[in-house]
Amino acid sequence: MDKAKILIDTDPGVDDALAILMAHRHADVVGLTIAAGNVGLAHTVANALKLVETIGAATPVFAGCAGPLVAHPPESAAFVHGLDGFGDSGHLPGVRRAEAEPAAQAILRLSREHAGKLVIVAMAPLTNLALALKLDPELPSRVARLVVMGGAVTGRGNTTVSAEFNIGFDPEAAHIVFSAWPKFELVDWELTVRHAIAYGTIEHWSSADNAQARFFDAISRKTRAWSQERGRPKLALADPLAMAVALQPDIVVRTGEHHVAVALDGLARGATVVDWDNRSGAATNARIVMELDQARFEALAASALGAGS
Ligand code: RIB
Ligand code: CA
Repeated sequence: MDKAKILIDTDPGVDDALAILMAHRHADVVGLTIAAGNVGLAHTVANALKLVETIGAATPVFAGCAGPLVAHPPESAAFVHGLDGFGDSGHLPGVRRAEAEPAAQAILRLSREHAGKLVIVAMAPLTNLALALKLDPELPSRVARLVVMGGAVTGRGNTTVSAEFNIGFDPEAAHIVFSAWPKFELVDWELTVRHAIAYGTIEHWSSADNAQARFFDAISRKTRAWSQERGRPKLALADPLAMAVALQPDIVVRTGEHHVAVALDGLARGATVVDWDNRSGAATNARIVMELDQARFEALAASALGAGS
């Protein structure tokens, strides 16, 4: 069977890196479109280029928006991912350069070239995808699946009390995407925490004798240490979880179909508001992943690092 054609919108970012490695191991990655988020765009673009170069992939990298659509950029996540977004591990910069085509235009072109087959995995602030939708509202009709890593479906955020980082960084972009997309698959932060992975397991994977494992070991040290210092029992890996759902849809054990909106103002700005009882009468736009097969998730992540799970 042909491999899935995947376009990844990403802000690498340590967890993004593992998700990108998973995609290259198990799918046909047609492009990486890069957003600002975890760290600034210059770093996220450089990190994407360094990663694909490290694994010898010819995957094109397209630079996107340098900040949110309308609001002043909020805090980055450099405290999690390092100032350079890759653990300040001191690796040499890559030699690959990004394509000249802007990310939003690349999203539209690739959706036409792979019409009906393309799977988009959005694991960054949704700025690029929102811009693409504004340029061409017909985009969803050409995309087979949209898997979004974002949100906190019962309000337990990770960047503010109620907002998850990707949505909280650009709430207006998320509002545009959630309002325009008939049905997307949502992998939220709370699911990520429920499916976190033991530090010892990740250390074992990262000790595999190959280039991608050594690279991930180096860039993830700071993030692993930060998480352990905060007393988190396991490491939450948001983007790899979303990528696992994209790569193996039948890994999902339980879902809920509901309307999901984004709060744009006030204390809860950036929160994902879920109509659990379908009170609003609004059409359901999200298939919320509520549970998935942990062993298969870990096996997919391990295989990306050339390690046995
Ligand atoms: O909240 C987790 C998300 O924010 C992940 O995509 C991580 O990479 C950060 O961008
Ligand atoms: Ca990310």
